Amino acid sequence: MSADSSPESSIAVEVKKVTKIFPNGDTPTYALREVSFQAQNGKLTMIVGPSGCGKTTLLSVICGTLGVDSGDIEVFGNNLKMMSDAEITHFRCLNVGFIFQQFNLIPTLTIVENASIPLILQGMPYRKAEEKAAALLEDLGLGKRIRSFPRQLSGGQQQRVAIARALVHDPKLVICDEPTASLDAATGHHALELLKNSACNADRCVIVVTHDSRIFSFADWIAEMEDGRVIKSCLPADYHHG
Ligand SMILES: Nc1ncnc2c1ncn2[C@@H]1O[C@H](COP(=O)(O)OP(=O)(O)OP(=O)(O)O)[C@@H](O)[C@H]1O
Ligand SMILES: [Mg+2]
Repeated sequence: MSADSSPESSIAVEVKKVTKIFPNGDTPTYALREVSFQAQNGKLTMIVGPSGCGKTTLLSVICGTLGVDSGDIEVFGNNLKMMSDAEITHFRCLNVGFIFQQFNLIPTLTIVENASIPLILQGMPYRKAEEKAAALLEDLGLGKRIRSFPRQLSGGQQQRVAIARALVHDPKLVICDEPTASLDAATGHHALELLKNSACNADRCVIVVTHDSRIFSFADWIAEMEDGRVIKSCLPADYHHG
């Protein structure tokens, strides 16, 4: 790929000819067909494309939550194939923040507890973790709701909690699956600003899957997928979606 090759840019995530097949009985689904993809440090890379083209599957193999049938994935120079499941889990815990398509908040925890989870997993004392999570929730407009439970919030509010949980431990890699799907334009804009700020750091990488053309302008680089393949890789200014 010809992504910015200036001397200061460096590759955070490299996916090399990865194929992922879901057996699905008699008719296997080729979710990824020899996909190659790169995301740079200090950049916000967007993955776009129609429903079912393999976007969530690509994020899942980059995180190592889903194995691959062939090909290689390197994250910050670590080849996931060479790591045990326990090593991948530990690596994720330290370095990766996720926003899932379905939020995946824990229903029995308050939203500040949900947003504290990555810090608690890293061993931060409970109170300090909650303070840090509460400050970020406040910044996302949820300061008055920190003791609410996810079911008491709207879809857009739950999505903001998911964004807080993804950023609270200042991870090197932030992975977001449709982060603005349930957000109104203004809140979506603010969420992307937070993600974009995160990507401004030279040693941070943000990857966002989206259908939302309103946020394409936040991208530093766009990879378009179709039918399990990356078919185009370009600057947002050169991306013309129909
Ligand atoms: N766990 C699974 N088992 C079987 N098939 C799956 C599984 N996950 C995804 N697929 C199939 O793999 C293909 C790619 O799915 P994926 O979820 O990656 O698409 P997507 O681009 O994220 O779509 P959307 O925009 O609707 O979220 C689809 O055909 C889907 O049905
Ligand atoms: Mg998806």
